[in-house]
Amino acid sequence: MNANVRNRIGRVPLLLLGMSSLVAGIWGGLVRLPLNLPLPANNANWITFHGPLMVCGFLGTLIGLERAVGLPGRWMYAAPLLTGAGALAMVSGMMGHWPLILITLGSAVFWIVTLRVVKMQPVPFTWLMSAGAFAWLAGNVLWWADWPVSRVVPWWIAFLALTIIGERLDLSRFQRPSRWSAPLLWVAIGVFGAGLLLTAFVQIPGERLLGVGMILLTGWLARFDIARRSLRQTALPRFMASALLAGYGWLALSGLLLAWFSPLTSGLRYDAILHSFFLGFVFSMIFAHAPVIFPAVLMVMPIYTPRFYSHVILLQVGLICRVAGDLSTSVALRKWGAILAALAVALFLVNTVSAFLLRPSPPARKPKP
Ligand code: HEM
Repeated sequence: MNANVRNRIGRVPLLLLGMSSLVAGIWGGLVRLPLNLPLPANNANWITFHGPLMVCGFLGTLIGLERAVGLPGRWMYAAPLLTGAGALAMVSGMMGHWPLILITLGSAVFWIVTLRVVKMQPVPFTWLMSAGAFAWLAGNVLWWADWPVSRVVPWWIAFLALTIIGERLDLSRFQRPSRWSAPLLWVAIGVFGAGLLLTAFVQIPGERLLGVGMILLTGWLARFDIARRSLRQTALPRFMASALLAGYGWLALSGLLLAWFSPLTSGLRYDAILHSFFLGFVFSMIFAHAPVIFPAVLMVMPIYTPRFYSHVILLQVGLICRVAGDLSTSVALRKWGAILAALAVALFLVNTVSAFLLRPSPPARKPKP
């Protein structure tokens, strides 16, 4: 077996660890709605740790894996291995501090990996991603120090927002730079970062400023990201652009709701703010990038079929119902919205796996004369 194939197979268990967090996390989220679904015996972790499973177990593990692929040094895989092990401890019902310790250690290793990348390529997008990784680590340390998840959430939001914006900046590198792009980005990041830091000391002003920062970041993405231009293309670029622009809309809405309804505590408004960001923004980004990211992790060609629009559209419809249900206190609308969004994630997995399995095999090489 050649080294490439061995590496690819070696990544599959890490991918599966991330995926098991996704399934347990969403299942726990549905039970928390509440929906009357069975849970594994004596295992309330799927409900209690719904947020950490989604953010650290699923997204953290997958982002750590994606970053380790293509970088020299096997030690970089320690990040997704540790967070994946922490997630597995949560999914299997382990109590105590072990899940937190493993996840926090994994995020510390991940931050070191991003610093290494900054050293190799000291440009704005690597700095942004490293700042995102640091926010994740800081949030996990606060969580370990027994801060409530609602106070840790802004740090997790920063982890994902900065990572995604860094990724978009990287992908927009090849277009003609605008004079205003860099200064306006730093203004938006400055407001966002100041809000984040403030949340640790004065919750409400900090969260309001963070919300304004999210709106400014959306404005920057809407104006300077290549997504708007890619909409005029066809097939995969157009699909990606549609999902990205939908996600930017959710980022603006969650920023607006956060600025309006701070403080983050619990309940319907909390639900609307969190899920317009985590499901609306982050999952739209995942849906947009999945046709290139999963193949990159597994070292195969990108995949695309027009069927991919079905999970993007279902997610948008589900989320509109959920947020409308949250804001109008309609329990039924919220429940149906959450079920549709969960189905959208399931459909995404089915569409992606079937696109992998059904893709045409590469043309056979002609034998040399
Ligand atoms: C359709 C799928 C989902 C369902 C049914 C769901 C359900 C829920 C529910 C019912 C809550 C409690 C809200 C409250 O306190 O009133 C919640 C909280 C939360 N959700 Fe989700 N959720 C889903 C997807 C996600 C995703 C994709 C993420 C992250 C990527 C996420 C992250 C969180 C976080 C961080 C919290 C706060 C947890 C806490 O305060 O303990 N959720 N979710």
